[in-house]
Amino acid sequence: MKISLSQAVTLLKSNQVVALPTETVYGLAARINSPKALKEIFEIKGRPSDNPLIVHVASDKQWQDLVKIWPEEQMKALKKFIPGPLTVVLPAKKARVPHIIRAGLDTVAIRIPAQTKFRSVIRKVGPLAAPSANLSGRPSSTTTQHIESDFGADFPVLDGGSCDKGIESTVIRLLPEGWQLLREGVVTQKQLVQVLGLKPMRLDAESRKKPRTPGQKYKHYAPQAKLVFGKPTLQQIKKLKVDAVLGFSHAPHYRLPFYSLGSIKRPKLALKKLYQVLRQLDLDECQKVFVVDFGTKNSEELKLIQGRLKKASLKV
Ligand code: TXA
Ligand code: MG
Repeated sequence: MKISLSQAVTLLKSNQVVALPTETVYGLAARINSPKALKEIFEIKGRPSDNPLIVHVASDKQWQDLVKIWPEEQMKALKKFIPGPLTVVLPAKKARVPHIIRAGLDTVAIRIPAQTKFRSVIRKVGPLAAPSANLSGRPSSTTTQHIESDFGADFPVLDGGSCDKGIESTVIRLLPEGWQLLREGVVTQKQLVQVLGLKPMRLDAESRKKPRTPGQKYKHYAPQAKLVFGKPTLQQIKKLKVDAVLGFSHAPHYRLPFYSLGSIKRPKLALKKLYQVLRQLDLDECQKVFVVDFGTKNSEELKLIQGRLKKASLKV
């Protein structure tokens, strides 16, 4: 159910959860000081309680109120992407950031969204915790229809049209000795190296075992259909018994229904379309879908698409 900005504000103030648009994907928002709404986010999404939420703020001041350390130089360097699709993990002021948001960690992930409607809501109600607005494990929502399809036609959503980027923010962790890339996203590693002047630090053995971004251990972005990768012959694909083929427009269609990511020459557009296409597979009740391998040609966007598709095919 589409609601106005002032209705979104009223609902959030009365401790309800509402879906709000960001420039990356839609978020399922709750005020950070509303325990009832925060708990509801996890219930509505079916999200494991050990997967922390991103907090969205509208200013550096609000951000500084929630973190113990503010690394002035690194944050200044990152200004190029803030507001924008970059989430930064720093030690949390535990009294200010509820345990449920951090999933018990000592840190909190924060970003300032570029989407102006989202920021107006924050200015009126304060910082908002918001995971992507999708059932846990499924592709994120990039339009209001996606939210309706996951949470029902009555679920309140502020319409922001189709999300500009169509894929989630990049999550990094800042440390005194450097930085770590926790989740790939809109801002690329190359762009971050340019402004921070350092390559990301490798995740140590301990954090590889127990990932710093707990969300990474779960299957993600996945349609119901099983995704199979490769570039087989027509004979081989017959044996695989797939319902459909997914790929860039130039890929072979194998005489099967074809789901196109558009031209490989327009990777930004393909990124924006990716979750729409994955969700369409579900609407069409596909069970097994072949993804035609594409080279990433040193394109950051193509690498991102490949990464998300591989993650969607993970079996857990
Ligand atoms: O673009 C986005 O980031 C969207 C919009 C709505 O802002 N949000 C989003 O949230 O993608 P979500 O919950 O789907 O993904 C957040 C990721 C998860 O993998 C989570 O584990 C990680 O961020 N995360 C959150 N807090 C963290 C923390 N303190 N330390 C490490 N990772 C954290
Ligand atoms: Mg998500």
